[in-house]
Order: sequence, then structure tokens, then C-alpha cells
Amino acid sequence: MGKAAAELPHSIVGVRGEAGIAMKVKKTIVLLPGDGIGPEVTRAAATVLRECAQEFHHEFELHEFPIGGAAIDAIGTPLPNETLDACRKADAVFLGAVGGAKWDALPVGKRPESGLLGLRKGMGLYVNVRPVKVLEPLRGISPLKPERLGDLDIEIVRELAGGMYFGERGNTTENGVERAWDTESYSTPEIERIATFAFARAENRTRRVCSVDKANVLMSSQLWRRTVVALSGVYSSVKLEHMYVDNAAMQLTLKPSQFDVMLTSNMFGDILSDAAAALVGSIGLIPSASFGTGAPLFEPIHGSAPSLVGTDSANPVGAILSATLMLRDAFGLSLEADWVEQSLHRVLAGGYRTPDIAQPGASTIGGSVFTEMLREEMQRTLEHAERYGWGV
Ligand code: NAD
Ligand code: IPM
Ligand code: MN
Repeated sequence: MGKAAAELPHSIVGVRGEAGIAMKVKKTIVLLPGDGIGPEVTRAAATVLRECAQEFHHEFELHEFPIGGAAIDAIGTPLPNETLDACRKADAVFLGAVGGAKWDALPVGKRPESGLLGLRKGMGLYVNVRPVKVLEPLRGISPLKPERLGDLDIEIVRELAGGMYFGERGNTTENGVERAWDTESYSTPEIERIATFAFARAENRTRRVCSVDKANVLMSSQLWRRTVVALSGVYSSVKLEHMYVDNAAMQLTLKPSQFDVMLTSNMFGDILSDAAAALVGSIGLIPSASFGTGAPLFEPIHGSAPSLVGTDSANPVGAILSATLMLRDAFGLSLEADWVEQSLHRVLAGGYRTPDIAQPGASTIGGSVFTEMLREEMQRTLEHAERYGWGV
């Protein structure tokens, strides 16, 4: 077992220069396991959070609430009031995944996915950050040749509260012909607030924002582009570029390392982030953080992966990295987040793989075994850090 954080040598605090060790925090975290592989990846994230609380003497109260199909089955609605209330009062929320064939026949608005959209809206979350980065031990599993993959390290800053997801929609039948529509609509303030976040984020990275739109066709995209240009004057140290979404999809595949921060609408960000995930090996690896007017939400970007249910083969890394985003970005616990991430890298460097990130023919382990190996490695990493310092 690692030595209790309070007893760690002062030099560790000094090396990192952070308040993480000295500061003991008390946080209420709502867990929303959801459907399909959601509960198993949520268990992995909870294991990591509990481990941090124990070793660093924090008090994390973890409370589980139903959402999605599980909530439909139990309570009759994908987002029970009790769930939304608890999320609004929490310090941070973690969501596994929602959706599944069982509920696919339900109309839009009553499906598990509506629970997630209602949660994002109800919590005032308008920013969704999806970091996509090559994990060094996994470089070889990228579908791209190494020279094309480069040092891929991007953040997709996706608008989360507007656009087609929340625009007017409907359907009619006239003369026996059915018609349905969804509306893409953005206002200047909606664009400004997400663009402000993207510029600020880029200021702390390599100072480049690529704003993705379809301004050659869509009026909403023309407003998007004008608004981003107008705002860019305030962030003069950040280089702004614009790219049509079709080209952005191609450029991501051809030369993804050209990007730093990609600023997108709700719909474009959803699509481009799955494509970007594939470049680093698996959608199961990618975390996300959502921010807005209240508590932040952390969730892996993958869905409920129905075909993996019951096989213990879901990759828990996206969920685990969502937990480290929570530690770092919601609670300011960067030492703890570093601890988990360093340990995770060591497990991957040791060759341990869930099936989605294994080379063909290589041996694999289950998601729950992977999480247990990470927990053990976290203990070893802590002992190592006590002796030699962090990052060694
Ligand atoms: P999906 O992300 O569930 O699965 C896409 C592919 O990725 C599948 O081959 C799946 O096996 C694989 N995959 C996903 N997560 C993985 C993991 N952790 N480890 C290994 N492989 C993984 O997307 P889908 O199949 O389009 O959708 C399935 C259901 O999930 C639908 O009901 C959809 O609406 C829902 N969904 C929910 C969320 C969410 O809750 N945030 C996100 C996307 C899709
Ligand atoms: C995601 C998902 C969701 C989205 C669905 C399930 C509502 O695909 O988080 O990427 O489209 O935002
Ligand atoms: Mn998606």
C-alpha cells in the first residue's frame, strides 16, 4: 500500500509545486451509470475516484442515480426529476452511457438519448471538450501510418446546448407523403460563449483554433464564422483558421497533427470526435468534460456499445480519463490526476490491452481486469513517487 498522502515527503509537494497533497477536499459526485456498458465503465471511474480519496484523504461522496433506458424502465422517464436535481446540487457528475435496442422504437423526446440531452440542457452545459491524443504505447494501433499520425494532440471544443440538437423539429404527412425536419439555429451569444472558451483553451496550448463550419452553404454557419472572426481580435495571440466541415473530416484523416483546438457546432463536433477517436485506436479511449453555468459533467464519448454487454470487454480508459479530467478540471487535484494517468500509461506500456486496442492475434484482458491492474499499478506508482518523485 502506498503511504498516506499526509505523510508523503515534502519534496514531492515541492517538485510538483501544487496544493494537491496539502489540500483535502470534500466533494459530492453524482454517478449516472445508464445503459449497456455504461455501468461497467462507471464502476472503473468510481474505482479510480475512491482510490484517490483514500490515498489522498479526500472525502468523495458518490451517489448513483438512474438515467436513460434504466430510468425509463424504473421510473418511466429518461431523466427523472430526482436525477436532475441531484446533478444540479453535485460538485461534479459522471455519466457512463445511455441507449440500446430495447428503447429504439420510442419517439425522439422519450428515448434514453433525450435523457442525456435534457441533462446537458438542464445543467446549463454549453461546452464539451473532447481531448484526442495519441497514447504513446498505443501508437502502433492507429489506422494511420506513423508519419501521418504525427504527434496528434487535439481538443475538440464542441458547442453542446444549441444547433440542430435543440432546434425546432417536427413531422407531417401531406397527401400520403411523410416529411420530418430538424433546424440548425445559432444566435450570436451562443456562438460567442463557445468561441470564447475555445480561444481561452488555445491560449494555454499551441495557440491555434480551427473553426469548423459549412459557411459555403448554411446561414447559421455564416453567422458562426462572422462571430468567431469578430471575437478573434480579443485573442490576438491565437491563430484562427476556418475550415469547411467536409474538408475538416478529410484533413483529420490525412494530417491530424495540423490541428490544436477544433471549434465546432454541436452536430459537427459529435461526428468529428468519433472520427478523431478512431485515429488514436478506439473510441473507448476518449474522455470528455462539459462545462456551463453549474456543475460540470464528465463522460466518455462512446455509447452503450450493446454488442459488448456481458462480455467484460469494454475499454474503461475513456471513463477513467473522464475521471481524471474531473479531478483536474473540476476539483483542481492535478497531482491525483497525474498519478492516475501515469499509472495508466504504465499499464498500457506493459502491453495490457482490452480487445479494441489489441493488435490482431495479441492476447487481451477484460475491462474489469484492466481496471484492477490499474489500481495495483497506482499503488506501485505511489510507492515509486515516494522514493523518486513524480514524473520519473
Ligand atoms: P457506440 O459508441 O456505443 O459503439 C460504436 C462502436 O464502438 C461499437 O463497435 C462498439 O462496440 C465500440 N465501442 C464503444 N465503446 C467502446 C468501449 N468502451 N470499448 C470498446 N469498444 C467500444 O455507438 P453506437 O453503436 O452508434 O450506439 C449504441 C448506442 O449508444 C445507441 O443507443 C446510441 O444512441 C448510444 N450512444 C450513447 C452515447 C452516450 O451515452 N454518451 C454516445 C453515443 C451513442
Ligand atoms: C455523444 C452522443 C450523444 C450526442 C447522443 C447519445 C445524444 O453521441 O455524446 O457523442 O449526440 O451528443
Ligand atoms: Mn456521439
